[in-house]
Amino acid sequence: MSLSSQWDEALFVLIKHKGEKMAMGDRFYVTTPIYYPSNRLHIGHAYTTTVADSLARWHKFLGKDVFFLTGSDEHGQKIQRTAEEKGITPKEYVDEIVASFKELWQALNVQYDDFIRTTDERHHKAVQEVFRRIYENGDIYKSKYEGLYCVPCETFWVESKLDQGNCPDCGRPVELVEEESYFFRMGKYADRLLQHIEKHPEFIQPETRRKEMVNFIKGGLDDLCVTRTTFDWGVPVPIDEKHVVYVWFDALTNYLTGAGFPDDTKSLAKWWPADVHLVGKEIMRFHTIIWPIILMALGEELPKTVFGHGWLLFDSDKMSKSKGNVVDPHALIAELGEDPIRYFLLREISFGQDGNFSKKALVERTNSDLANDLGNLLHRTLSMLGKYHGGVVPAPGAEEAIDGELKALAEETRERTVDLMDNLKINDALAQIWRLVGRANKYVDECAPWALAKETATQERLDTVMYNLFEVQRITALLVKSFIPRTGERIWAQLGIDQALPDTGFGDTAWGGLRPGTQTQKGEPIFPRIEWVEDEAEAANDSVEPQKKQPEPVQPPTNETEETVGVVGIEEFAKLELVIAQVVQAEPVKKADKLLKLQVDVGDEVRQIVAGIAQHYAPQDLVGRRILVVKNLKPVKLRGELSQGMLLAATSNDGTLELVSVSDAIAPGSRVK
Ligand code: MSP
Repeated sequence: MSLSSQWDEALFVLIKHKGEKMAMGDRFYVTTPIYYPSNRLHIGHAYTTTVADSLARWHKFLGKDVFFLTGSDEHGQKIQRTAEEKGITPKEYVDEIVASFKELWQALNVQYDDFIRTTDERHHKAVQEVFRRIYENGDIYKSKYEGLYCVPCETFWVESKLDQGNCPDCGRPVELVEEESYFFRMGKYADRLLQHIEKHPEFIQPETRRKEMVNFIKGGLDDLCVTRTTFDWGVPVPIDEKHVVYVWFDALTNYLTGAGFPDDTKSLAKWWPADVHLVGKEIMRFHTIIWPIILMALGEELPKTVFGHGWLLFDSDKMSKSKGNVVDPHALIAELGEDPIRYFLLREISFGQDGNFSKKALVERTNSDLANDLGNLLHRTLSMLGKYHGGVVPAPGAEEAIDGELKALAEETRERTVDLMDNLKINDALAQIWRLVGRANKYVDECAPWALAKETATQERLDTVMYNLFEVQRITALLVKSFIPRTGERIWAQLGIDQALPDTGFGDTAWGGLRPGTQTQKGEPIFPRIEWVEDEAEAANDSVEPQKKQPEPVQPPTNETEETVGVVGIEEFAKLELVIAQVVQAEPVKKADKLLKLQVDVGDEVRQIVAGIAQHYAPQDLVGRRILVVKNLKPVKLRGELSQGMLLAATSNDGTLELVSVSDAIAPGSRVK
């Protein structure tokens, strides 16, 4: 290539890219894999779909025209065999399971724009058209296939890639198949694909998977067998009806069918190429090698990004029906509601990496982030507003430095969240939003509205503090609603804002949108704490966290004298956060007759403290009492129960024990110094 033509090409790419950006910036097309209806879906499948739903809602919120496609991958030998075993037709079999998919998505509050079934007529038409076009341009040819096939994975394998004779993906035995087949000239496109990957670092994400795929392609691409004849549950090959199209060739095409291929050219022009295909890491090869090569052979553009996320593990093992460790999302949603599950999946697992699922972790996340941080902020601020202002949001007065800080963090949060979501850093985006929630809780402690309410001189200050707290929560409701939509709605309803919570409207997250005079509607706490009772099996696995042995500290040289030994300096004492807490709930701890488990309001949250006072107090006598606790004591587990803090009691020589208490005049959270 001459120097000038190189420049021409560079310029062309630049113009094309700019043109694309301009045309595509205001729309967003996201897909999930289409799921096999070979079994009911489990929490691992719910993971991808929750991410896709949140992304779709988020981009809609940013003001884009969004298309979110999901569906079911209904053909193939595996489905045909399963139906035969049950004595029903494949269609009868898949109809029933696909209905359960749709029920699950509804229960999880997933709002897809289209659900594609590969048995849809529109899809058959699209697959046949893709096949015909590639055949006509000479990239599909007829030959004979002799080789190995994994039916559960619907994958062809060469002997050298097997793992001790078994499928390297699922570990199950492969079958020898020998049949007349059509082949797709994949090898021909390997270099073009490598160039594309190099030029578009965003095409395969995350980075580690990009490297894996590049190595795979560099290892050489064989032509791919794209038809089967030994069963008939599939899309008939248009030029030779005794063949059906290979199930992966058929399934991948769904992304084009959904966009309108082949007949709805207007829709296709609007939606293709897709912005993000979300897929699990084990099906990256299909999406980043076979699919782009099909598109190249067709002359269609490649999707902008294929993101390969990690697996949800259960006790560090992949969930699978055959291992009997699947977690049924239907039951979890029925028990806890969909938002704790959505939040856990999005927040707990670093997007792109594997993550562990356990019910215990789900309950802990819900209690800490949703009940304590988010829910308690709303409930306690609404209580204060009810008390001080009849529940009406006041107009803010003069701003102090601490208010400016809160405002700046809210502003930073909206900007950072956009940036993080653009880069598919979903768990980080949520962490950023919770930083704001945490700051607001701290702002309550620092500004102490209960103290401001007591003096006439500080009424204006109280107004400012209350306005700011409700404004942060208005912004938070808007920011969280893409991830936990029902929670966004519930916060909004209690804030009492006249207009409905908008689906679009990122602009509304700018500071100052809350109208003074808004009459709030305090309701029940949006996330009551979940009581977690470990069953025996779980208790055996993870009762008390193994305490790491601390290395012996190296003592700094001191100038201690006899008089100073045992004396504590004021700085050391100040390290202890002693606060007043109100007992909200108290109950015995199973199989521990000395322990009581208390839920105590420490001002900014409700915490659990386990204390050895069962022989001195009946649980019902403690509720409502205001006691003294050490708030910043390292949490420990006692008999499998988390204890976050320590309450203080005095014991006399005869063994009488009494909790140190104060009257109701001192609010929970007040510091003891
Ligand atoms: N039908 C194909 C996809 C065709 S897309 C053109 C398929 N279906 S599947 O039902 O087996 O899996 C669908 C998706 O669920 C995959 O992305 C897979 O990674 C994901 N998951 C299945 N188990 C999972 C976990 N335990 N954790 C996370 N994702 C999991 O493959």
